[in-house]
Amino acid sequence: MRPIRIALTKGRLEKKSLALFETMGLDCTALREKGRRLILPMYAENDIGDETRIQIEAVLAKAADVITYVRHGVCDFGIVGKDTLAENGAGVYEVLRLPFGVCKFALAGKSGVDFYAGHHERSIATKYPTVARRFFAQKGMDVNIIKIEGSVELAPLLGLSDAIVDIVETGGTLAANGLEVIEDIQSISARVIANVASMKLRHEQMQSLLDDMAASMSVAEF
Ligand code: PRP
Repeated sequence: MRPIRIALTKGRLEKKSLALFETMGLDCTALREKGRRLILPMYAENDIGDETRIQIEAVLAKAADVITYVRHGVCDFGIVGKDTLAENGAGVYEVLRLPFGVCKFALAGKSGVDFYAGHHERSIATKYPTVARRFFAQKGMDVNIIKIEGSVELAPLLGLSDAIVDIVETGGTLAANGLEVIEDIQSISARVIANVASMKLRHEQMQSLLDDMAASMSVAEF
């Protein structure tokens, strides 16, 4: 049987995930010294040579692709932000809320401008059209959503949109660009997701790893 595969979101969440795995007692040397490799074995310390030990592989991918690999069952677990899950997370189990990658979705616009004044249709720039559409649908507001790939803060500054729906972590990017939060939408953190079939077919191994992650996340130093 192939190793249990955990897809990790490359970048900030990857480093935090590594800290979690090391707290669990997994040897993450290969992940630390990965170079350009994308599939890295992890070993359970003190357990080398035991044929019953769980073989684990870390797979490095972009956030949305983490969900795709887990949904299709080529990876069993994934670690990904709730932001990406909220946008395109259907078809996987969300099994654990992790204490890192903490931020929020917010509606933001130019400081001092009343977003709700007047009756014209508003334009909203965002990397997260599904999240934005859902938010305004709940308010019963028709808005024009404009999909942007990054540096969304530019859109209201250049006059492309009235506001943005985006991730706010420290608030530094908004402040540096004369923007402010109009309304909080949803809090975000990293999540462990699991493939639906794997959770049934490899239940014992999957549950054991999940229990280890849950026990380690409160003592790990992120
Ligand atoms: C994210 C987000 C904001 C910024 C928020 O962008 O889209 O721009 O971080 O962080 P802050 O509140 O701490 O300033 P990211 O750095 O992922 O780059 P991007 O805009 O190119 O997507």
